[in-house]
Amino acid sequence: MKIYRANIIFTPSPDKLEVIPHGYIVVGSNGLIEGIYTELPENMDWRRQVIDFGDKLLIPAFNDLHVHAPQYRNLGLALDLELLPWLNTYTFTEETKYADPEYARRMYRRFVHELWMQGTMRAAVFGTIHPEATRILADLFIQAGMGARVGLVGMNRNCPDILSNTTESLMEGMRMLKAHLDEHGNNGLVSPIITPRFIPSCTPDMLAALGNYAAETGLPVQSHLSENRSEIDWVRELEPDSVCYGDAYNRYGLFGQTPTLMAHCCYSGEEEIALMKQNGVYVVHCPMSNSNLSSGIAPIRTYLEKGVRVAMGTDVSAGHNMSMLRAMQYAIQVSKLHYAASHGEVRFLTLSEVFYLATKAGGLFFGKVGSFEPGYEFDALLVDDHYLNYDNYTLEQRLERYLYLGDDRDIKRRFCRGVELTEPVY
Ligand code: GUN
Ligand code: FE
Repeated sequence: MKIYRANIIFTPSPDKLEVIPHGYIVVGSNGLIEGIYTELPENMDWRRQVIDFGDKLLIPAFNDLHVHAPQYRNLGLALDLELLPWLNTYTFTEETKYADPEYARRMYRRFVHELWMQGTMRAAVFGTIHPEATRILADLFIQAGMGARVGLVGMNRNCPDILSNTTESLMEGMRMLKAHLDEHGNNGLVSPIITPRFIPSCTPDMLAALGNYAAETGLPVQSHLSENRSEIDWVRELEPDSVCYGDAYNRYGLFGQTPTLMAHCCYSGEEEIALMKQNGVYVVHCPMSNSNLSSGIAPIRTYLEKGVRVAMGTDVSAGHNMSMLRAMQYAIQVSKLHYAASHGEVRFLTLSEVFYLATKAGGLFFGKVGSFEPGYEFDALLVDDHYLNYDNYTLEQRLERYLYLGDDRDIKRRFCRGVELTEPVY
């Protein structure tokens, strides 16, 4: 058992920050939170064990629900095109390099290290079509002690031959990855996720095989949905019988039949929204990416009001920064542009709402993760913001300033499932 004392901040619900000045959090040896206290019970044995973090902030670690590991080298580059030419010009070219396991190892080390640095303890990650590179990526997460859903990407049309797999090679790769992670995945901390790139990249045959595999294994699914207008028009041509883009996934059993993440959803219409709600599909909001690729503004307030699940992602490298702090900042700012464009009709997102999205909402995809309620896995960051805290700021204000002004250097300790994760050295 461990007992930590710090300024504790978390969001059990989206509307309010829970703030406990100099509170205590008791973590069991199984890594689960046993309780949270303003005063410690009169128990001498407990009192002796307290690890006191002084005036620092203790917050849930971040969960990035949409990020492309093999686009790491392109961070901060190549943001002068819209989605479809961006994929063809910059992204497919870079991902092709992951046929080389040594290149993959070199880049993926940096990628996993940076996730650790930024305090993202769990992520839903796209790899490439390459089974060996993707296994290397998964192994790096295991070594680091971090949580990840790792996707071997399916793509077999409308892409360069050299970056295509076949349905057979994809399914064989998926089975190998699953067998490997069933055995070595750190008790489910690292596990596979079914990853059709998006409808334009996958033939009906591949989508059907992946849908069957989801039904057979119960594995979750991640993909892209209604990101860009040209993409949506293209999907309408490719799948003329589908009611909407989301329905194209749904027909193949890839839309909430198992837990499903759909990145973007900038242009989802009534039918698509109804289908996402009905099937419990998560919208993964990636506002940095939607700004950089001129995709659009995802109507997150509408999704929240309609009861659609929402989480957040960086979508690196269409998103230009690995930090979930930046993703949260963008989410608020983009929602304020939406508010202005709607003449004040659509309320913008609040600090506690985006903090909830980046911690508990995303965490729930991984189990009881992302909050400090009893029974939750202890995933946490210890933040030293003393240089920002030079006057009598409240804890809520300190969190707000950290969100806007802070960065990875302020994170002093990181915990995942109760274990403190030191810097990965490879
Ligand atoms: N749609 C299909 N592939 C991608 C990708 O790599 N990034 C983004 N943002 N959208 C996509
Ligand atoms: Fe993406």
